[in-house]
Amino acid sequence: MVARHTGVRAVAGAADFDLYRPAEEHELLRESVRALAEAKIAPHAAEVDEQGRFPQEALDALVASDLHAVHVPESYGGGGADALATVIVIEEVARVCASSSLIPAVNKLGSMPVLLSGSEELKARYLAPLARGEAMFSYALSEPDAGSDAGGMRTRAVRDGDTYVLNGVKRWITNAGVSEYYTVMAVTDADKRTRGGISAFVVEKGDEGVSFGAPEKKLGIKGSPTREVYLDNVRIPADRLIGEEGTGFATAMRTLDHTRITIAAQALGIAQGALDYAKGYVAERKQFGRPVGDFQGVQFMLADMAMKLEAARQLTYAAAARSERGDSDLTFFGAAAKCYASDAAMEITTDAVQLLGGYGYTRDYPVERMMRDAKITQIYEGTNQIQRIVMARNLP
Ligand code: CAA
Repeated sequence: MVARHTGVRAVAGAADFDLYRPAEEHELLRESVRALAEAKIAPHAAEVDEQGRFPQEALDALVASDLHAVHVPESYGGGGADALATVIVIEEVARVCASSSLIPAVNKLGSMPVLLSGSEELKARYLAPLARGEAMFSYALSEPDAGSDAGGMRTRAVRDGDTYVLNGVKRWITNAGVSEYYTVMAVTDADKRTRGGISAFVVEKGDEGVSFGAPEKKLGIKGSPTREVYLDNVRIPADRLIGEEGTGFATAMRTLDHTRITIAAQALGIAQGALDYAKGYVAERKQFGRPVGDFQGVQFMLADMAMKLEAARQLTYAAAARSERGDSDLTFFGAAAKCYASDAAMEITTDAVQLLGGYGYTRDYPVERMMRDAKITQIYEGTNQIQRIVMARNLP
């Protein structure tokens, strides 16, 4: 009787073993990306970090397997991966090399404004080369004095006939210099600012007046160049405007709703890499005549690490499903997934260093790199303090 009143019986009838878990295709994708990442990307990860060089081997391997920009729809020549599949690709690459995972992640970030708000013509022109692996796409929102307060940007775009002329400095631009295309947010009406005064444009690396600063010297993700982008009287055709004039801030924020989930994915991958390494290490390392993994203090640490990681994964996958469906609570879920997963990754990687003891603190083992790489996930695409502001303003 109770079942009939509450509808439980009907729900129970619909349930099967696939309830609440990724599809088989998602798991097969994970297996194949993991194999590729371990064979072609992992062997270079330490050197890429040590030398602070771009992971060209990873780009080549990802392009050869069509994994460099999986989110691009099939209609533009891409793989048409759903949001969860994109998360899994980023996760598996980040598990072995966080710098390399920024290739698929930032390609999504840079091109998402075009996908969300661009004209058909703009999509066809810029997404096809991205899908073919001929061009990467970066996202240029932040400036020296406009980080958390993104709306405080100073870069200006002034309409002049059939063109716009852009002037300004963008800072902290991931993959700057190696990307061909840049989504640039600029002020078109200083009085309106975030409410109709900011516009988004596609700027090309080869446009006259575009140049780059020296690579930042960073704590982690050393293989991914972070540089300033200078826009000095850059004149671009007016049809490079993404959407209507004045819609750029909303497009930038809607983009982040989707792509904060890819940062969560990166955090998950880094944390999984550290946990896997630490798990193997404690089974081998002997002290007091037995593997340190036999000690309950060590077991409790591993249990906590795995528990936090799995909680972060569930939240991230739930957010990815919302991104795919375009649910109204995506803003909350995107911020929550990024915030929770990055905090978890910082804790898990720090604990992995602890489990390896003195060895963990050296560059002879990968966990110190993972700990350094994890830190940025708490900072970029909005600090975790900003995520809490976003969540509080969009409580479910
Ligand atoms: N979706 C659609 N529109 C949105 C939106 C969203 N999620 N959030 C805001 N908007 C629009 C709304 O239209 C809003 O106007 P109304 O309230 O009248 O509707 C308008 O934008 C202004 O919104 P706010 O008043 O909330 O704007 P704010 O100035 O208070 O800023 C903020 C909000 C959340 C703090 C925002 O500035 C922010 O997200 N800051 C962090 C920036 C950030 O994440 N930077 C990361 C850079 S990218 C990066 O790091 C990438 C990398 O390298 C890998």
